[in-house]
Amino acid sequence: MDFLVAVANDYAVGRIGIDRERKAGEGVAVLWSLAVMPNLQRLGIGTALIRAAEDDAGNQGALAAEIGVEAWNNDARRLYERLGYTAFGREEDTETGEPIELLRRSLPSCSVAENN
Ligand SMILES: CC(C)(COP(=O)(O)OP(=O)(O)OC[C@H]1O[C@@H](n2cnc3c(N)ncnc32)[C@H](O)[C@@H]1OP(=O)(O)O)[C@@H](O)C(=O)NCCC(=O)NCCS
Repeated sequence: MDFLVAVANDYAVGRIGIDRERKAGEGVAVLWSLAVMPNLQRLGIGTALIRAAEDDAGNQGALAAEIGVEAWNNDARRLYERLGYTAFGREEDTETGEPIELLRRSLPSCSVAENN
């Protein structure tokens, strides 16, 4: 489990977790625990964190990124859909039992040129 942290003026202002293990068999990196400081939201930090996490996951070989969102969280869901995520299923939150909507986005495949 890794976290990326957004830093501004030496302060942590946002974070996103990358779970590479949970759905590795499907080639999926699960992004979770996305949060931006309330007074710094709507400035593009959440978008930058998601894109950085996708780059990181894609470079490590993931074929798709997945994000879960609570049914009530329309702001987050709208953001994910605008970034190319599509709802495909549901699961229950492992701690609260609350229904979570699952969204996925394919990641660009990465090819490495070899210099011989
Ligand atoms: C969801 C969350 C992470 C989004 O973070 P964010 O930094 O606000 O995200 P962004 O700024 O990239 O995008 C959010 C909105 O700001 C807009 N925006 C982005 N940059 C902007 C800018 N420079 N000027 C004006 N608006 C901008 C986006 O278009 C988007 O608009 P929308 O509200 O119509 O969807 C944040 O709201 C948060 O921490 N929420 C609480 C925790 C949470 O719900 N986490 C998600 C769990 S699934």
